[in-house]
Amino acid sequence: MKSLPIHSVLFVCLGNICRSPLAEGVFRSVLAAEGKVDGMLVDSAGTNGYHTGELPDERSMAIASHHGIDISTQRCRQLIADDFTRFDLIVGMDRENIATIRGRRPSNATAEVGMFYELALGEAKQIPDPYYGTSADFERVYRMILAASKGLSTRF
Ligand code: 4NP
Repeated sequence: MKSLPIHSVLFVCLGNICRSPLAEGVFRSVLAAEGKVDGMLVDSAGTNGYHTGELPDERSMAIASHHGIDISTQRCRQLIADDFTRFDLIVGMDRENIATIRGRRPSNATAEVGMFYELALGEAKQIPDPYYGTSADFERVYRMILAASKGLSTRF
């Protein structure tokens, strides 16, 4: 594990429209509330590129907005090789994300890679894909992301 403090983090999910944009917004707001956001690089990406250039999912934007967080300036992008040297930490939401991220890891990679709940709270819990779910699933994902963000911020 990399020693404290970490200066950059990339949140990664499958599509970069539901979970990771919300994680980017929530984590930045947690860092801001703790007075730690200056100089931090917080970004998100998807393992697939199906939605490249798109806004976050409306349901993610709505739940973020409901909690006072604006994620509407984010645009979807795919994970690239440079991310493995640009970021200290690459955080996946579920085991499938982690397997894909590790499979794409270039030989010069320096980033630590781990699952959000494991890195943040030492729990093997996955943040489930809400894409085909209901607004209640997005609310649950938001609560999980908030709890994990508070845990992860202690490393920053
Ligand atoms: P996300 O959710 O990984 O949380 O952004 C998904 C969004 C879109 C798709 C899959 C998951 N998709 O296949 O289009």
